[in-house]
Amino acid sequence: MDINHIPVLGDKVVGFLKPKSDGIYIDGTVGLGGHSTAILKASAPNGHVFGIDLDTDALTVAKDRLQIFADRFSLINGNFAEMNVLLESHAIHAVDGILLDLGVSSLQLDAPHRGFSFNHTGPLDMRMNPGHENDTDAKTMLTAMQVVNDSTVDVLVDIFKRYGEERFAKRIAHRIVAARRHEPITTTTQLANIVTQSVPKGGSKIHPATRVFQALRIYVNAELENLMAGLDAAVTLLKPNGCLCVITFHSLEDRIVKHRFQTWARMCLCPPKTPICICQHNPSVEILTKRPVLPDVTEVQHNPRSRSAKLRVARKL
Ligand SMILES: C[S@@+](CC[C@H](N)C(=O)[O-])C[C@H]1O[C@@H](n2cnc3c(N)ncnc32)[C@H](O)[C@@H]1O
Repeated sequence: MDINHIPVLGDKVVGFLKPKSDGIYIDGTVGLGGHSTAILKASAPNGHVFGIDLDTDALTVAKDRLQIFADRFSLINGNFAEMNVLLESHAIHAVDGILLDLGVSSLQLDAPHRGFSFNHTGPLDMRMNPGHENDTDAKTMLTAMQVVNDSTVDVLVDIFKRYGEERFAKRIAHRIVAARRHEPITTTTQLANIVTQSVPKGGSKIHPATRVFQALRIYVNAELENLMAGLDAAVTLLKPNGCLCVITFHSLEDRIVKHRFQTWARMCLCPPKTPICICQHNPSVEILTKRPVLPDVTEVQHNPRSRSAKLRVARKL
């Protein structure tokens, strides 16, 4: 398994966070610990990082890789949407900087048994937190297999359109329902083949199943709902001058971050035609990235997965 993970836009994130030696930071998506490592190095000798992840496999790898920072990091298995509650249990009520690096890690994508990738044959799972026998949260979450085999055509169409912006959502959904009448769709390869057969050939440079896999992953993990809740939790936890850095990988996520930042930064939230402001809203952040920061050519060459990354940063006022 390749764990030589390069943190996307790592230098840029550190440049905005400006980690201090007495600072406390949250890495809400610790993954393989790449960004946490960079923040811990930059905040030596005393800066502390709280690293949150849904995935216990990722936390096992991160724990090993962050060992050299001794007692300057704490790893928490949980959802960044609840970061304020998670940090409260560590008696932390305010922090100096927060990072969310959204999506899946290479560890998850490259592990066939997790079912995230059409490049590897595996069970259609896609839960970021597959959990253990006694983990009730994970047990109540649907797997991609359940979604694909148990949803109506209309629900599948809605998922593929809403979370994958898939043009051929209807055709794909009908093919899935026809195929599962013969046998359940249980593997990534089965699903990828059905999607490939449903769409016109040669229409796009990306694999025909890319959007359907993205849509199922977002739906299974409630990624957009978690993002909205995570942004709100983050802004309340930041100390004045603390920065929130968010790295997104597709337009649905980026749109949410952009609009949330704009709302926080606005002087007034009254409807457009209100003659005099009655909301008395005060901006809570300054947006530091008028346009999103993108990886440069060298980074994309070294780490092709960074090519769709966009970093947006807001500073708490
Ligand atoms: C792109 S990876 C992060 C990689 C990390 N920045 C690094 O340098 O290694 C995203 C990670 O976020 C985790 N994740 C996604 N959504 C989450 C959520 N709502 N709460 C906590 N962790 C989440 C995933 O399990 C995955 O490990």
